[in-house]
Amino acid sequence: MDRLDKLLAQRGFGSRKDVQRLIRSGAVTLNGETCRTPDCKLDLERDEVYVGGEPLDRDKYVYIMMNKPAGVVSATEDKREKTVLDILPEEMRRPNLFPAGRLDKDTEGLLIITNDGDFAHRMLSPRKKVYKQYEAELDAPVTEEMKRRFAEGIEFTNGEKCLPAVLSVPDSGLERTALVKICEGKFHQVKKMFSACGTRVVHLKRISIGNLYLDSNLTIGSCKFLTKLDIEAIFIGNIH
Ligand code: URA
Repeated sequence: MDRLDKLLAQRGFGSRKDVQRLIRSGAVTLNGETCRTPDCKLDLERDEVYVGGEPLDRDKYVYIMMNKPAGVVSATEDKREKTVLDILPEEMRRPNLFPAGRLDKDTEGLLIITNDGDFAHRMLSPRKKVYKQYEAELDAPVTEEMKRRFAEGIEFTNGEKCLPAVLSVPDSGLERTALVKICEGKFHQVKKMFSACGTRVVHLKRISIGNLYLDSNLTIGSCKFLTKLDIEAIFIGNIH
């Protein structure tokens, strides 16, 4: 049995407080009757829930934002290493979750964990032009020449060519900190792009995907469910 408020929060209707307000407002029905009791217990296998007149599907997808810590691998399982699924809080676990795209073991920041394969494909396919933004600390300053090469598309030593990327320095003006936007996910891509310019990445953190930014309230290693608006933000306003 699930609590109504917990279930709606998991389904992206907002924080636990938001959904409690929603339930008290009378927008939710349980088996045809308005239910204003946030902690009411139900079982979606047999109970019918409507929110704002729309039925709540039984086994909908979930989307989780994790502030990935360094030291865990972006995989569903690993014989030796701790994975991002191993550190998911108990109440967020469910079958078939996987990280949508990989961050290196030592990379931190925004990672989305979901059970929705179509969504992952849409977000990750270079053709969909969803830009992922990284903040990189470097061992040398960003130069105009590097910006030009990133914009043209870096070529690796094996001849593999990257799509055009956007390299800038943050407003803080820290010259060894770089912001990089890429819309593909080649293995160690950002590190290799800088390496092709003779520069080493000392620390790497993903800060946004499309227009969805890492929540600054999420401490390293913690997670939250994404709302429908969060998901939409991933796909609007991308650079083409
Ligand atoms: N590029 C990298 O080099 N590493 C990551 O984890 C992500 C992008």
